Amino acid sequence: MTPSDVKATLSFSDGSPAMDLPIYKGTIGPDVIDIRKLYGQTGKFTYDPGFLSTASCNSTITYIDGDKGELLYRGYPIEQLAVNCDYLETCYLLLYGELPNASQKEEFVARVTNHTMVNEQMQFFLRGFRRDAHPMAVMTGLVGALSAFYHDSTDINNPEHREIAAIRLIAKMPTLVAMAYKYTVGQPYIYPKNDLSYAGNFMRMMFATPCEEYKPNDVLVRAMDRIFTLHADHEQNASTSTVRLCGSSGTNPFAAIAAGVACLWGPAHGGANEACLNMLADIQNQGGVAKIGEFIKQVKDKNSGVKLMGFGHRVYKNYDPRAKLMRETCHEVLNELGLHNDPMFKLAMELEKIALEDEYFVARKLYPNVDFYSGIVQRAIGIPVPLFTAIFALARTVGWIAQLNEMIGDPEYKIGRPRQLFVGAASRDVKPIAQR
Ligand code: CMC
Repeated sequence: MTPSDVKATLSFSDGSPAMDLPIYKGTIGPDVIDIRKLYGQTGKFTYDPGFLSTASCNSTITYIDGDKGELLYRGYPIEQLAVNCDYLETCYLLLYGELPNASQKEEFVARVTNHTMVNEQMQFFLRGFRRDAHPMAVMTGLVGALSAFYHDSTDINNPEHREIAAIRLIAKMPTLVAMAYKYTVGQPYIYPKNDLSYAGNFMRMMFATPCEEYKPNDVLVRAMDRIFTLHADHEQNASTSTVRLCGSSGTNPFAAIAAGVACLWGPAHGGANEACLNMLADIQNQGGVAKIGEFIKQVKDKNSGVKLMGFGHRVYKNYDPRAKLMRETCHEVLNELGLHNDPMFKLAMELEKIALEDEYFVARKLYPNVDFYSGIVQRAIGIPVPLFTAIFALARTVGWIAQLNEMIGDPEYKIGRPRQLFVGAASRDVKPIAQR
């Protein structure tokens, strides 16, 4: 970290001595004030629920400028990666810091491909679930279960072991998501086919049956690959911070990733794409475009508890660059499938137009996020709605593991242990039960 010439001074109105705090500069983005010695010197903590002003780590992986609507993986704009690279090249970039050349790519693809099969025991884990279990409940269990297969062979302090865990996770997530899907529909699991692309193989494991050969459609495979690329990492969001915090105890990396899957499930995070599509379906059922005005009125009424899902973001206070790319993909997929008159897409476009002009959304800088269109694309491809977040988890796994490995490789890393402002009862004596 580069120290700044400027220092911050913290002073107190009660006459306690002031404290100088060092400032560090990033390559881009806001500087940080180093408060690590604050408690030792003043006996005080900082208070920042939701981490609105707190950098929990330094990182070289992903940078977001929320005001500009900019997203960079290792310095490369997402718009360029989405157009010029495929998902596995993006994985390589996130893991190793540079884009692969042709031979590095070939070797990396071969390594990932070599690990796509899961232990045959995994299907017996699946049998323990109800057929109607939510795929994210199933994925939390299955990814956690992977830790049992690779526990003794994984020394978290060994960089090679961490790397092989990363490759295994990237390789096995599509297989597990497809197995979770096949289980719910009662179809036989389809084993990976290693001469297909990463996204093509996933689609085959999802949609093929042993009775018929399945030929992936190139446009849909490209759309799926783009969904993966756009979701691959997003710096220190809730699930990534969960993975870092969980992994900071030195736990098994597969278990730490399972914690990320659990966190991602929530509707304020990865569950938003499912919630968004359900919202669009509700509006559609109530009358579609004609009912948008009424719906927006509900969203603006704080007592209604209704939110415009797929809108708003903690970091982006501008159009989410991923949403623009997703909207483009949405057009491509719907055209390919002859669904350009899809009423849900028309409804989404109209809803977006109205919301972007509405004073409530303008004043709060609420713009569409990636999930606003990703649900429509996935539904058109044939992915069932409850599986959307599992696909997000599949794509984000590389980000989680890259961030986890970066943390463990950082000589300054410590177990994460936030403090608190205690506002409960002070010390008191327990009375005998008859006196309570
Ligand atoms: N619909 C209506 N009002 C909203 C929305 C929304 N989607 N999002 C934020 N607001 C309002 C919020 O009520 C608040 O209003 P006020 O200032 O009057 O109290 C204001 O905008 C600021 O919102 P906030 O809750 O302080 O923002 P946050 O940074 O804490 O929350 C968010 C971010 C993503 C949780 C929130 O915008 C939201 O719940 N959006 C809908 C869910 C969603 O689409 N999530 C996907 C995020 S992108 C995928 C990912 O990266 O995980």
